[in-house]
Amino acid sequence: MKHNSTPAMDNTLRADNACLPLMTIITNNEAETVLEGETLGRTLVAGTVVALYGELGAGKTAFTRGLAIGLGISISVSSPTFTIVNEYPGEIPLFHFDMYRLETESELFDIGWDDYLERGGGCVVEWSEKVPGAFPPGTIEVRLENLGNNMRRVEIN
Ligand SMILES: Nc1ncnc2c1ncn2[C@@H]1O[C@H](COP(=O)(O)OP(=O)(O)OP(=O)(O)O)[C@@H](O)[C@H]1O
Ligand SMILES: [Mg+2]
Repeated sequence: MKHNSTPAMDNTLRADNACLPLMTIITNNEAETVLEGETLGRTLVAGTVVALYGELGAGKTAFTRGLAIGLGISISVSSPTFTIVNEYPGEIPLFHFDMYRLETESELFDIGWDDYLERGGGCVVEWSEKVPGAFPPGTIEVRLENLGNNMRRVEIN
């Protein structure tokens, strides 16, 4: 049977091997990555942390834009270029962090990271590589990889 399989989806339930990604999707353009973010965003509950990993241009902000849409937030998300965090109000607010400019993990304290975790929003973090010690148990990890030709591998754990 021929499937119209864009984006391709490979759902892998983790029985006992926690190393396997829960879901791997290949997106073919920015809109599809936004859509994957939206799908995840619809499932977010207060207090969820989403750690994004991936290089410059991998699609972290695109995915975050989708998360906001999924949460029902109508303000358009952009990169927090001059600040570390942008706040988007909503029933479940979204706190969008970009850790790119952090020099040390201890700067998390200065931006009030622990307070954000307690504020009942969704916390989404670009450049999670910079702050490996920041994430509480239960953090959803999303890895984005540029495969070329506008394709991105999106792995959700
Ligand atoms: N499949 C795709 N998914 C997402 N973005 C794509 C895709 N194909 C092409 N693009 C392009 O890649 C870029 C992704 O930009 P985006 O700002 O989301 O990346 P980023 O990971 O947040 O980068 P940065 O590390 O600079 O914050 C955009 O210009 C977008 O149009
Ligand atoms: Mg970005």
